[in-house]
Amino acid sequence: MYHNYSYENALAASEKMRWNIEDVVGRGRKLDFTKPFLPESLARVEPLTFLTGREKLILNQIRGHAYLTMFGTVEEFILPFVMDHARPRLQDNDSRIRALLNFAGEEAKHIQLFKQFRKEFLAGFETPCNVIGPPSEIAAAVLSHHPLAVALLTLHIEWFVQRHYIESVRNNGELDSQFKSLLKYHWIDEAQHTKLDTLMIDSLAESYTPDEIVKAMEEYLEMGAFLDQGLTQQVQFDLESFTRATSRELNEEQIKEFNQVQLQANRWTYIGSGMSHPNFLATVNSLNPEWKNRLEQLAPAFC
Ligand SMILES: [Fe+2]
Ligand SMILES: [Fe+2]
Repeated sequence: MYHNYSYENALAASEKMRWNIEDVVGRGRKLDFTKPFLPESLARVEPLTFLTGREKLILNQIRGHAYLTMFGTVEEFILPFVMDHARPRLQDNDSRIRALLNFAGEEAKHIQLFKQFRKEFLAGFETPCNVIGPPSEIAAAVLSHHPLAVALLTLHIEWFVQRHYIESVRNNGELDSQFKSLLKYHWIDEAQHTKLDTLMIDSLAESYTPDEIVKAMEEYLEMGAFLDQGLTQQVQFDLESFTRATSRELNEEQIKEFNQVQLQANRWTYIGSGMSHPNFLATVNSLNPEWKNRLEQLAPAFC
């Protein structure tokens, strides 16, 4: 076995680290709009040298808003997926069902938390910011795929949450403390979710033939292409939000550069940082080593 995860340990950690929405938002805590919300490794506003410092900050915050909304969106499919996985497994293993129910409850909590943050963001930001969606339609599209493909996409997402926080948020002294706190609390719960996703994949894979596993891998890539289309649309929304917020009209050349840099920034944030995560690749390797090599070759295009 390439990992030592167990339902018992994930459950114990989830119980020990439990937190409420009130621990993170409300009680007079506000977003500070004089500070960046996302680390530069995800936002990539610095390469856009034709923007002023203030314009870069505004673009960073627009990206922060989209980041929150994107989580709200993906969690709308993760929640029913985990519940559907748990429903036929009520018996036999008490720790498993409790761990899976905590997982679902935590995602429901995150959905509510991100909605609350979004409300506060829009109240403070003043001009509207559009995002792709609606979440229910995206969730329906994702859930129409092979369950193992959906589990892989979920694992990919939860590993990149870990990566973003550990590599570029935890020791970042520049970010708004409220936004950073949100990312920290989310990271705490997601640390157990990565393990539970891995265990769900182990259990799903047992019931599929090698051909079906390949089909699931193909569908994981199809969903990646679907996500990539969404990101292209999101960059357009972000440009519109930026123009509204700053009243800065970019010329044709600048728009081209904006689109290129920001599309690649979004690709790294939501695709490359998950697809190339060593623990995600270890799980893919356990299913089909050839596909691990294939993903390693594909990932640089999204980095
Ligand atoms: Fe979450
Ligand atoms: Fe999660």
